[in-house]
Amino acid sequence: MDPKFVDKKTIDEAYAAIGRIRERLGRAKPNYFIETYGCQMNEHDSEKLAGMLEAMGYTRTDDRTKADLILFNTCCIREHAEKRTFGNVGFIKEIKAENPSLILGVCGCMMQQKEVAKKLAARFPFVDMIFGTNELHIFPQLVERVMDGGRVFEIKDTEGEIAEGLPVKRCEGFSTFVNIMYGCNNFCSYCIVPYVRGRERSRRAQDIVEEVRRVVNDEGYTEVTLLGQNVNSYNDNGIRFPELLRMVNEVEGLKRLRFMTSHPKDLSHELVMAMAECDKVCEHIHLPVQSGSNRILKLMNRRYTREHYLDLVRDLRENVPGVEITTDIIVGFPTETEEDLEDTLSLVREVGFSAAYSFAYSVREGTVAARMDGQIPEEVKKERLKRLNAVIAETAVGANDKYMGMEGEILIEGRDLRGEPMMFGKLPSLKMVYVKGDESMIGKYYKVRVTGTRFNSIVGEIID
Ligand code: SAH
Ligand code: SF4
Ligand code: F3S
Repeated sequence: MDPKFVDKKTIDEAYAAIGRIRERLGRAKPNYFIETYGCQMNEHDSEKLAGMLEAMGYTRTDDRTKADLILFNTCCIREHAEKRTFGNVGFIKEIKAENPSLILGVCGCMMQQKEVAKKLAARFPFVDMIFGTNELHIFPQLVERVMDGGRVFEIKDTEGEIAEGLPVKRCEGFSTFVNIMYGCNNFCSYCIVPYVRGRERSRRAQDIVEEVRRVVNDEGYTEVTLLGQNVNSYNDNGIRFPELLRMVNEVEGLKRLRFMTSHPKDLSHELVMAMAECDKVCEHIHLPVQSGSNRILKLMNRRYTREHYLDLVRDLRENVPGVEITTDIIVGFPTETEEDLEDTLSLVREVGFSAAYSFAYSVREGTVAARMDGQIPEEVKKERLKRLNAVIAETAVGANDKYMGMEGEILIEGRDLRGEPMMFGKLPSLKMVYVKGDESMIGKYYKVRVTGTRFNSIVGEIID
């Protein structure tokens, strides 16, 4: 057995614990509430926790005051995430006072930082269970320990493993996530993820294809997003990401295939061609650039240059017609000068992203950048973030014009209640389109022609 996989015996033990809890709960109909912070990786982990809880007999509630078990699945990518979590966990004290049998757990990336977890445990004695990112597959046993009167503090120092076969309760809708890999080996100098998510490890391609087949055929999803911190370094014994994409593209019944995130250093021409050739792969790529300055990119340990990034954009636009590119950008990285910032702003103008997520650099203890000289004062970071956002907004204006008259297919997601009520859905490029219609259209695909614009979106009419 490959050591990167959790062995079958351990998975069987998780199911046995689920069975025992189910028996123990008997006729009780307890509720659970999960609050998730951070990225899709965490969202999907919460779906796994939910899957196990439902197998135990718990039912989901959106009202934390009615919950018998509350989980906070935390993030630590930036400092404010931490502050928010501490605040929100603190509030549960009152709910716990009303319902002393309430089980309260805190897990996820922030808890994988042991010092922070210890601080949380000491500050909030009413927290029953704290566990890290490597304990998902023993979650049922941890719940059992709390039910037996124990307090759980379980954070394994491991490089991480892959657990197959645990139940998943996916969010309702037509679009869902499938993990293809876990962890990250890139160690971008600002980033905490490699420290809290362990080393890069890829699931077996066959397991991924099977899971996609299941969610499409048994659960009715038509859109799947393949998840990994850097999908371009996926490697299952020689099966690389472009090949995996081609394999998943073959799944019958699947309509749309997305993936994230791509790291520019390993985005190959082969992947661009796979995107171009696979009919289900959407014309969208999230390609975080982080900075437009080569000096800063080097300090960030991103291992590509501005010129390389622009080449990738050219390759994508040449080969994937209508492709939309979205990105992440950090301003205020240590030593960033006005000139570096100008390089970032000019790159934003040059590329014309359809969306750009901008962040002020946040010091993460333990990372290389945290120890760098030349930290930028908070006010300067804030001011630079404002300037970046202005350029992002300015480049977005007019970006909708190119859609006028265009035809494409949208997946209707819901009704918009602002102004004149209309239904909305997304094109493969993620562009939102508003059309006239009613609730019966939700979850279906319609061919539309774009006829106008509205807010940051476009309006269309159904032609089919
Ligand atoms: N694996 C993904 C990123 C995951 S984190 C990738 O490499 O693209 C999502 C985004 O958060 C990053 O792209 C980055 O822009 C931002 N981010 C990460 N660490 C940060 C920090 N210390 N301060 C500010 N933003 C940060
Ligand atoms: Fe963080 Fe870089 Fe890994 Fe993304 S690729 S998770 S930014 S270390
Ligand atoms: Fe994601 Fe936050 Fe963890 S961004 S991987 S949940 S630190």
